Amino acid sequence: MLSYRHSFHAGNFADILKHLTLAYLLNYLNRKDKPYCYLDTHSGAGFYDLGSKEARKTGEFQEGVGKLHSQPLQHPLLKDFKKLLEETTGGSQSIYPGSPALASKLLRPTDRLRLNELHPRDHQLLEETFQQDRRCQVSQEDAFQFLKASLPPKEKRGVILIDPSYEKKEDYKKLITALEGAVKRFATGVYAIWYPVINRQDTEAWINKLAATGIPKMLRVEHCPYPDTSGIGMTGSGMIIVNPPYTLAQDFQELLKEVDQLLRPDAPGKVIIKTLENL
Ligand SMILES: C[S@@+](CC[C@H](N)C(=O)[O-])C[C@H]1O[C@@H](n2cnc3c(N)ncnc32)[C@H](O)[C@@H]1O
Repeated sequence: MLSYRHSFHAGNFADILKHLTLAYLLNYLNRKDKPYCYLDTHSGAGFYDLGSKEARKTGEFQEGVGKLHSQPLQHPLLKDFKKLLEETTGGSQSIYPGSPALASKLLRPTDRLRLNELHPRDHQLLEETFQQDRRCQVSQEDAFQFLKASLPPKEKRGVILIDPSYEKKEDYKKLITALEGAVKRFATGVYAIWYPVINRQDTEAWINKLAATGIPKMLRVEHCPYPDTSGIGMTGSGMIIVNPPYTLAQDFQELLKEVDQLLRPDAPGKVIIKTLENL
């Protein structure tokens, strides 16, 4: 039984990193006309009402997207991201778009979206939102089965977002096995994997296991607005990107410096950007 609902967390600091990365990757693929497929293994509901009792209960969005809305932005990628949020929500700051919504805004008419979500309620919301969009196919399978069954996409170009809730500890291990299988079936795919930083030692141990798979071209992009702890709440989050655009590491240095300043102007956080071979 799944109890995690992203509606409690939508628009938080971790969503900012995840969705900035996603937008960057999709825009990069958009540079070529050739169609591609976007796979979202853990899609969530698609859109989130920041006025809902779930969002207000944690207030996490106020420490994330709320800070982007309330302050002037400098970096072009950050300005573009804010514009994308506005275009996706019709200008409403009380709605936050999830990964499927952002992707559906960025993909072209010839591209395809495969959206998967297991939670019955969120799956229903996802289906209601995207069923009219002929580019989208919505499913309700276990994410790792879905991944296995969906690769390689017929387009032979694609971005795959893997964004588990890690509600079950075994997801960390399952993800590594699933990624190894996925890369064997679709080596040229661009994979974006989200992870939380809760306990620093656990995070490093998991990253080391990922590096030990020997999957080539893995980049780690991590932003921790809060200091490390030994495991009380999420202090940061990261993305592992397989086959990243060669420009990403450099672009994200300046971008995440500004994000960090916007989120916590009085207490600088930490940004890590490195390839897994250089750990
Ligand atoms: C972090 S949320 C996804 C947020 C979404 N990707 C976004 O960025 O807007 C993780 C989602 O994974 C779903 N989930 C958890 N375990 C799953 C599984 N085994 N298969 C598919 N979905 C799962 C949860 O119900 C939850 O909606």
